[in-house]
Amino acid sequence: MAQEVRGVIAPGKDEPVRIETIVVPDPGPGEAVVRIQACGVCHTDLHYKQSGITDEFPFLLGHEAAGVVEQVGPGVTDVVPGDFVILNWRAVCGRCRACLRGRPWYCFDTHNARQKMTLTDGTELAPALGIGAFAEKTLVAAGQCTKVDPAVSPQVAGLLGCGVMAGIGAALNTGGVTRGDSVAVIGCGGVGDAAIAGAHLAGAAKIIAVDIDDRKLETARGMGATHTVNSRTTDPIEAIRELTGGFGADVVIEAVGRPETYTQAFYARDLAGTVVLVGVPTPEMKLELPLLDVFGRGGALKSSWYGDCLPSRDFPMLIDLHLQGRLALDKFVTETIRLDEVEKAFERMHHGDVLRSVVVL
Ligand SMILES: NC(=O)c1ccc[n+]([C@@H]2O[C@H](COP(=O)([O-])OP(=O)(O)OC[C@H]3O[C@@H](n4cnc5c(N)ncnc54)[C@H](O)[C@@H]3O)[C@@H](O)[C@H]2O)c1
Ligand SMILES: [Zn+2]
Ligand SMILES: [Zn+2]
Repeated sequence: MAQEVRGVIAPGKDEPVRIETIVVPDPGPGEAVVRIQACGVCHTDLHYKQSGITDEFPFLLGHEAAGVVEQVGPGVTDVVPGDFVILNWRAVCGRCRACLRGRPWYCFDTHNARQKMTLTDGTELAPALGIGAFAEKTLVAAGQCTKVDPAVSPQVAGLLGCGVMAGIGAALNTGGVTRGDSVAVIGCGGVGDAAIAGAHLAGAAKIIAVDIDDRKLETARGMGATHTVNSRTTDPIEAIRELTGGFGADVVIEAVGRPETYTQAFYARDLAGTVVLVGVPTPEMKLELPLLDVFGRGGALKSSWYGDCLPSRDFPMLIDLHLQGRLALDKFVTETIRLDEVEKAFERMHHGDVLRSVVVL
């Protein structure tokens, strides 16, 4: 029997979001229905609402979520009702060319639920990142449910489902940060701060946080930054070089997504160092660099999608580290809100007032 629940939809470009009744079908083969306990508000939800991703309105927003599996469809064996899970948007297929080459974090054919959730009049909904978790319940592919230790609070666990994983993974998986490294992070929102926390966890010796907002630099210190640079008043390239013996950092992580900050990252790294772009640019942005500098500075220029994470490998491990007191994921939760406060949370995000607002159901 399909169920009716409350969920937050984006009805059309730049229209305010609103709560609607959502029809959630019974799970089909390979699918699961999850009762959502908490879901963070991510920039990507705002991008959906602004039609920055696709035009397939209406969207069921929300994708950084944790909850409890309520029902599973035929053939599902990895999770059972009652399991506490974080939802992921990388349920790997195991069969595409990336998976077959042993690099499943680049999977080109990740799974989502086959059936559609709808409004009561039958209008099909497009769930954000194939999840749609600003809702009391949602329908996903069973592979999108990653079991973790239920001792963690749902509002903290859910954050690993997107932005925090993207940042930690940019440092650990894409940047390969290891003990003794010098690391600079440009842009200290939720994603940049998570990269700082990741670099700290890996044992980086120097972690330089760069932002244009002193409030963000303050928070970055709490995440493990050893030095801070306000790039509104100080040239960040000069400052990072000065802090690293004149050379530049081993790994520079760009978590803004703009040509000027990418250029700063490019020149703030040591010769043969690594730049990781985790900030998401917009289609009209262009980058201009002397090709000789690209050649002559060597090293690696990488992009990081979802922190190159493998949810089944990374989520349980990071939750365990959190529960052991070695990764302060709780610091990312600025406030908890209700389902009807998502629009307000977008405002606060826009003004830079929060790392994460988390809807608690
Ligand atoms: N690659 C991925 O898989 C992935 C996943 C989630 C989010 N993201 C992207 O990561 C980026 C950051 O996300 P967020 O949630 O942390 O956003 P946010 O808005 O919370 O943080 C951005 C930070 O950058 C700072 N900033 C803005 N302009 C700057 C400049 N010129 N120089 C230095 N700092 C500047 C802001 O003050 C803010 O602290 C976004 O582009 C987002 O879309 C990427
Ligand atoms: Zn695959
Ligand atoms: Zn997200």
